[in-house]
Amino acid sequence: MARHLITSAIPYINGIKHLGNLVGSQLPADLCARYLRGRGHEVMFICATDEHGTPAELAAQKAGQPVAEFCAQMHGVQADIARRFGLSFDHFGRSSSQRNQVLTQHFAGQLADNGYIAEVSEKQVYSVDDGRFLPDRYIEGTCPNCGYDKARGDQCENCTKQLDPTDLIDPRSAISGSTNLEVRETKHLYLRQSLLKDQISDWIDSKHDWPILTTSIARKWLNDGDGLQDRGITRDLHWGVPVKRGDQPWPGMEGKVFYVWFDAPIEYIAATAEWADAHGRPDADWRRWWRLDEGAKDVTYTQFMGKDNVPFHTLSFPATIIGSGEPWKMVDYIKSFNYLTYDGGQFSTSQGRGVFMDHALEILPADYWRWWLLSHAPESGDSEFTWDNFQQSVNKDLADVLGNFVSRITKFCRSKFGETIPEGGEYGPEESRLIEALTTRIHAYDGFMAAMEVRKSAAELRAIWVLGNEYLQGAAPWSTFKTDPEKAAMQVRLGLNLIRLYAVLSAPFIPFTADAMLAAMQTDNRDWPDDVATALTALPASHAFTVPEVLFAKISDESREEWQARFQGVRA
Ligand code: 2FM
Ligand code: ZN
Repeated sequence: MARHLITSAIPYINGIKHLGNLVGSQLPADLCARYLRGRGHEVMFICATDEHGTPAELAAQKAGQPVAEFCAQMHGVQADIARRFGLSFDHFGRSSSQRNQVLTQHFAGQLADNGYIAEVSEKQVYSVDDGRFLPDRYIEGTCPNCGYDKARGDQCENCTKQLDPTDLIDPRSAISGSTNLEVRETKHLYLRQSLLKDQISDWIDSKHDWPILTTSIARKWLNDGDGLQDRGITRDLHWGVPVKRGDQPWPGMEGKVFYVWFDAPIEYIAATAEWADAHGRPDADWRRWWRLDEGAKDVTYTQFMGKDNVPFHTLSFPATIIGSGEPWKMVDYIKSFNYLTYDGGQFSTSQGRGVFMDHALEILPADYWRWWLLSHAPESGDSEFTWDNFQQSVNKDLADVLGNFVSRITKFCRSKFGETIPEGGEYGPEESRLIEALTTRIHAYDGFMAAMEVRKSAAELRAIWVLGNEYLQGAAPWSTFKTDPEKAAMQVRLGLNLIRLYAVLSAPFIPFTADAMLAAMQTDNRDWPDDVATALTALPASHAFTVPEVLFAKISDESREEWQARFQGVRA
């Protein structure tokens, strides 16, 4: 039994995520966690909400709530949706936790002790009426280049020119509209990542098995980007982890907080500590996942994320870990994803375009979405959600192939033999061929799942379902029954055992349906098939079962059109 640590990029707190966010990190991470657990490995699957930063503060302001209260409430909302999507986190933490505060301050102290922190004085725009420094993108004004009157301090989105806030004509606060702005001197901590460039570069070069998407982004930033320039890790904000050097005050840094991207990845570690706290476990129980000197040497650590998060996980977070000089576990494999687009355009949180997780569950159960998203995961390039394609996948793969197989065999058995598995009959050549084909395909499925090839795994699983339908079609127990009831009994027994086997194999993709299939077969036997022939005898003759409710309802053209219209526009 191996030990696997799995983390999904932690979603921002300020709103419900759309399906594009989901398929880029949390959902494939869940697929992997469920698969490895199913194979009998020890898994620690961690996610959390990313609660700091200006967007969280502004979202709270918009909601008219104190930011801490807003975050607590939104964490509850996101946790509930995650549960309803079947995301099987061992812990869903919060980056605003005490654990993360202590660890973040600890890392900063270590980095300072090791000479990786510089104190830098900068000039920054201060809004007197808002009582705060303004990040560049919260300063608005007229573009000196094209005259657009809503240009932001970092860039004009009309003419795309990169700007400095001081370039803007008639600058004002994007938060309050106030023009009472001053340039003030402020001091910040910089992480001197440039000193770590060689070490990080060697580390990335040693990762021969990583997806090209991951290494190409990392190398681009290392070699021709700004990725390893020293970067500011503190901000003049009220909400965040207070700047301290370990547990000591940091002179001159009073009232400042760490930058959200500094503390967010540290939350992977902190959330594991939160897991221990929540289960009354001692520190040793989380440290064995994270400290090489306390048991983590045999851990395999995999991270899941969208491509926009790759630079932070290949460069910045490793710089924090390496610079700490302490034996923390570093990531072994980074699985990254391209983008999911929506019906010819982008998903947009600000414009409410596309399907969001809460709305998705209002119209269909989680497994419909899980299947479509995973079987179309944007691995080798971007992929597009269209309602047509979604309708086809659900109706063909789920309803016609899997659902229909389960329904036919259980109903036929009930009508001819009753709701117990019938006995009698011997395997013939058709059964041998089926077992051989299943063995080959399940072997391939295992290979793709272990390699986290999500789409290929889905295609293989579907092919495994198809084998069952083809067998049933050829064996035709409804005809056999007329001349050779014993043989029909054997065929039905095999078919009912296939339902259990399909439930086990499919559980990582469609866990709710897998549970329903096992419940109908009245078994808790979730053993992964080492040997297909043996797996197909798990449910013996005279074992009772029930005919399940329809597993998947087909999507009608009317529903498809209605949903397409509903999700076109602005989120309610
Ligand atoms: O892109 C995002 O949603 C970020 N909140 C991801 C953070 S991942 C990590 F570093 F914690
Ligand atoms: Zn402009």
